[in-house]
Amino acid sequence: MMLARESLEKIDREIAKYPEGRKQSAVMEALAVAQDEKGFLSDEMIEFVAGLLGMAPISVREVVSFYAMYKHEAASSGKTRLTLCRSLPCRLSGADEIAETLKEKLGIDFGETTPDGRMTLVEGECMGACGDAPVALIDDKRMCCRLTREGVDALLREIG
Ligand code: FES
Repeated sequence: MMLARESLEKIDREIAKYPEGRKQSAVMEALAVAQDEKGFLSDEMIEFVAGLLGMAPISVREVVSFYAMYKHEAASSGKTRLTLCRSLPCRLSGADEIAETLKEKLGIDFGETTPDGRMTLVEGECMGACGDAPVALIDDKRMCCRLTREGVDALLREIG
């Protein structure tokens, strides 16, 4: 699922404020909720929101690029892209701690790139490796399993 249940419920509540058949009117609120959760709006998220509201993705993309408050895919610019799984099984295995450690060591939040342009930190969804949780993906290719707080330094040295 692209968004947490709480976010989807918030979006549903926004949709419910508009008359039947006018759910597209909730597009700005829906994007704000998605960005609140993820820190930025990826192309996939734009498509997901478009699907929720029965809109063409291009129309949603136009909204995103028109308003400065939306951050569109801020996360693809670093040399290395580190995506940490933030789905429940990984979180139950310590992904939150890993997230805090990564943010602290890199000095950036999810959706951001280090000032030297070396590393971009991204929040990801289940990567189908829950048995090896917590899991991260490097450059959308290489999977790192059973991450530990202590292992974060070594991992950053290796991929940085
Ligand atoms: S929840 Fe992280 S890989 Fe499945």
